[in-house]
Amino acid sequence: MIETLVLAEGDWKIWRELRLTALTEAPYAFGSRLADWQGDGDREERWRDRLAIPGSYNIVALLDGQPVGMASGVPTELDGVVELISMYVAPAGRGQGVGDHLVQAVGQWARQAGAGTLRLAVTEGNENAQALYERNGFRDTGEPGDLMSDGLRREHIMAKSLSI
Ligand SMILES: CC(C)(COP(=O)(O)OP(=O)(O)OC[C@H]1O[C@@H](n2cnc3c(N)ncnc32)[C@H](O)[C@@H]1OP(=O)(O)O)[C@@H](O)C(=O)NCCC(=O)NCCS
Repeated sequence: MIETLVLAEGDWKIWRELRLTALTEAPYAFGSRLADWQGDGDREERWRDRLAIPGSYNIVALLDGQPVGMASGVPTELDGVVELISMYVAPAGRGQGVGDHLVQAVGQWARQAGAGTLRLAVTEGNENAQALYERNGFRDTGEPGDLMSDGLRREHIMAKSLSI
């Protein structure tokens, strides 16, 4: 059974544990680096601030009671456009619909918050993530995303209309 846990600032330890796992296990998928959240960067107030981003929705997916996945919806500078970020399913939870559950939960929240578009950035070559997003109605916008750490490839920007 997959359940959604909506996190508040006080739940930062749950977020921290999964996020550090994500940055360690799948560094190719994220703009943030593990080193930015270790040592001096690994402070309670930073994790709390991350969960307290104004207008954000931060969730963890529980599979049979265990936290195995995470995702966030955050406002953008564009009116009516929300961004899906920090998407991760740990290896123990993969291939069981947890990714679909997270994408759909953030989409539902965004629609209820009045957003018309949900967008995201995915690194080139991350085929599992691209397939998940396409299956959930996202399409490549063709806009150039940020340059990846190899200095050559760019992220792909995908978006989905929430109005239907
Ligand atoms: C991309 C990701 C969120 C997909 O989560 P998921 O819930 O496993 O999604 P899916 O069920 O669609 O599985 C995706 C693919 O993983 C593979 N997979 C299936 N079971 C698996 C398992 N037990 N272990 C590893 N991979 C598995 C399969 O190729 C599957 O695709 P298919 O079965 O449709 O051919 C997850 O793989 C992940 O967190 N990856 C690393 C971080 C990342 O890429 N985040 C996205 C940033 S934009």
